[in-house]
Parts: sequence; C-alpha cells; structure tokens
Amino acid sequence: MTSPDELLLKVMLDPAAIPDPHPIYKELREAAPVFKTAIGETWVISGFENSRALLRDSRCGSPMDEQATTSRIAVDGSTRRARTSSSAPMLFLNPPDHTRIRGLVSRAFTPRRVEQLRGEVTEMTDSLLDALDGEGDFVDGVAFPLPANVISALVGVPEADRDWLRPLIADMVPSIEPTATDEEMDKAEAAGAQAAVFLAELIATRRADPQDDMLSALIQASDGEDRLTEDEVIANIFLIYAAGFETTTHLLGNMVRQLVAHPEQLQRLRDDRSLIPNAIEEVLRFDPPVQLDGRYVFEDIEVDGHTIEAGSSIVTLLAGANRDPAVCADPDTFDVGRADIQIMSFGSGIHFCLGAALARLEGQVVLERLIGRYENWGITAEPTWQGRITIRGVERLDVAFS
Ligand code: HEM
Repeated sequence: MTSPDELLLKVMLDPAAIPDPHPIYKELREAAPVFKTAIGETWVISGFENSRALLRDSRCGSPMDEQATTSRIAVDGSTRRARTSSSAPMLFLNPPDHTRIRGLVSRAFTPRRVEQLRGEVTEMTDSLLDALDGEGDFVDGVAFPLPANVISALVGVPEADRDWLRPLIADMVPSIEPTATDEEMDKAEAAGAQAAVFLAELIATRRADPQDDMLSALIQASDGEDRLTEDEVIANIFLIYAAGFETTTHLLGNMVRQLVAHPEQLQRLRDDRSLIPNAIEEVLRFDPPVQLDGRYVFEDIEVDGHTIEAGSSIVTLLAGANRDPAVCADPDTFDVGRADIQIMSFGSGIHFCLGAALARLEGQVVLERLIGRYENWGITAEPTWQGRITIRGVERLDVAFS
C-alpha cells in the first residue's frame, strides 16, 4: 500500500498526477484524512468538515515574520525561505490587521460594482469569441484574456500597460506553490518590485484625478478617520489583480473540458439555461482551480483524536474536500443539476475569496455565450497542463466549436 507521504509527494511533484489527482485525494481521505507528513511539521487534511473548521479556526492563520520559514513544505527536506510580509496583502494577514484592511477594501469591491460589470463582461466575451471564431487555443483566445481584461478594467489599469504587466504577474503566481524554488521566489520578488513602482505611479495619477475605478475607490476608501496607506493600497490592489486572472482562467478552461467530457450535461444546459449558474458551481466543485489552501497553527488543536501542535502548518486539500461523500452524494459524478452544492473552492472563513462573485459572473457569462453560439463542442488535441497543483489548470486547450 502507498503511504500517505508517498501519495502527497506524488500529487505535488509528479506531473503525471496533475491531470487527475482525485484518486489520490480519495485515497488520502479514506486512509489518512488527518495526517502528519514526514517532510516537516505539516499536517494534511482532506475531508470537508475538518478543512472548513480549520480554515475558520482563529487558532490558525498566517505565519508571523519569525514563523515564516517553517511555513512552507520543504519537499526535498531543506528549509525554504518564505515570502516576506512587509506590507503584506490581506491574504497573508491575521486579525485585527486583516479585519481592518478587508473591511476597507470591501467598500471598494462591492457586489454592486461586480454586477455592474455584467454588460461589459458580455461584450468582452463576445469580441474574444468572435476573434477565436470557433477554433484554436481556448486558453490563449478567451480563458486568459477575459479575466485579465475584466480585472484590468475593474481595477483601472490602462490598456496600454496591461501587456507588460501580465508577465510580471505570471512570474509572481508560482510563489504561492508550496514547492516553489528559491529561484521562483527571487523572480517573484523582482517582478513584485517592478510592478509596485508602476502601481505607485498609477496611484499618484488617480489621487490627482480620480476615475470610476477600483483603484480610485480604494484610495478614497476610509472608515471615519481610517484610510488605507499607500503601501496597503499597492499590496492589496496587487493581490486583487493577480488573484483575479489565473484562477478564473482555469475555471473557464475546466468548464469547457468538463462539458466536452460530459456531452449529456451540456445538452441539459441547452435544454434549460436556468441551470447555468448551478453548472458553474458544479465545475467549481468537481474541478476547482485552487486545489490546496494552508494555515499556520498558533495553538494546539485537536482534530479527530490527533493533536496538531502549535507551530505546525496545515494543508487543506480543497479539491478532495469537495468530493467528500459526507457532504456530497455520488461525488465523482459531474451533475449540473445537483442540488445544494457545497464547495471549499473559494476557501472558508475570514479569507473567503473576495472575488467569488466576479469569478462566478465570468463563468456564467462565458458559458451562456458559448451555449448560445455553438451546438458542437470539441477538444481537438490532448490539453497541456501547467504542472502546478495549488493553482491547477491547462495552459493550452485546442477546441473546435461549430
Ligand atoms: C474561480 C476563481 C477563483 C478561485 C477558485 C479563487 C480561490 C480563492 C481561495 C481558495 C481563497 C482563499 C485563500 C485562503 O484561504 O488563504 C481566495 C482568496 C482571495 N481571492 Fe480568490 N479565487 C478566484 C477568483 C478571484 C477573483 C476574480 C478575485 C479578485 C477580483 C479574487 C480575489 C481574492 C482575494 C482578494 C482573496 C483574499 C481574501 C482575504 O484574504 O480576505 N479571487 N480565493
């Protein structure tokens, strides 16, 4: 029998496991739902309720500076450098700092602002689908540029700057992988520094001449006397910008892959378009773009008879939790009509994804427009995978729609 450690290493390091990691999550959930790895003080959690409870537990959070070096899994046994946390974005903060910043940012990133984007998202989708003309790489043609353009428009990044900013963000994304190398961390830091200079200039421009965009709203966001400092605006606009596209790219790619693989489900959507929002939930459950989440443990926590000691790290297998039979009947079946879908795909608790409504909106619009245009959906070549597990998805998806 394969040990839990071997299973974990396989899912994290073996490219062959990436296209279908679910059998591994299942085996872990059944054989070792709460286990301590041999590769450092890290506990791996694969069931739904335990993952949710731990992500919501105030005894867990982001490691403080002095704790940060132990917070990443060192897959080869070495100690790895963690990200530094000066002017950290909200994702890496704990209360009360997290509460304050998230509260101020939420004022600029309101459900109303997101819903107002529906028309613009539809227009952008149509023009990208026109250009794709039913054939080619769906990632390059739609799944990547749509979220990138939407988030740029929302934040207020001028069109002229988007192209050179994107590769910098792409360099930053791998730094959240538990297996990121020091070289990747260095590249991410350098890209971050370059992008921060650009953002500081853009903030100065918006401060002098506010526009109807999120950057201007963030600069103005205040709660009585409390405002975001310039560093806080930069760190969080950055987070929103970076979090806003690769994840959604994979949601769109996964949606097309799953509906091509399950043509009877696609037919159900054609017959009843009111199922579209539910279908997006089911894609998020069945094939989530973010597969792992993590926390640092501040105090001992008892979980199912195990003591997770203070100073440990926790990895929650979100994609495994989504298929926990305790919360989902027949979890390995993709069913767009499923009732009461419960997902961990956007995390849980105080760090629950701030962009969930926007991601869902983009998924729904693209699905609706694709169904409206095309009867036949096909994938014409084996997709190529990005080879990362935290944010997992394909980098190329050749499609033929007619
Ligand atoms: C399908 C697409 C997306 C997925 C699967 C996703 C997933 C997640 C997950 C799992 C977390 C929790 C991280 C944690 O617990 O440590 C998170 C947090 C976050 N996400 Fe998303 N996300 C998506 C799209 C977006 C978009 C479009 C935006 C912005 C426009 C966004 C902004 C954020 C932010 C700001 C946080 C941090 C919230 C906090 O720390 O309080 N995400 N996301």
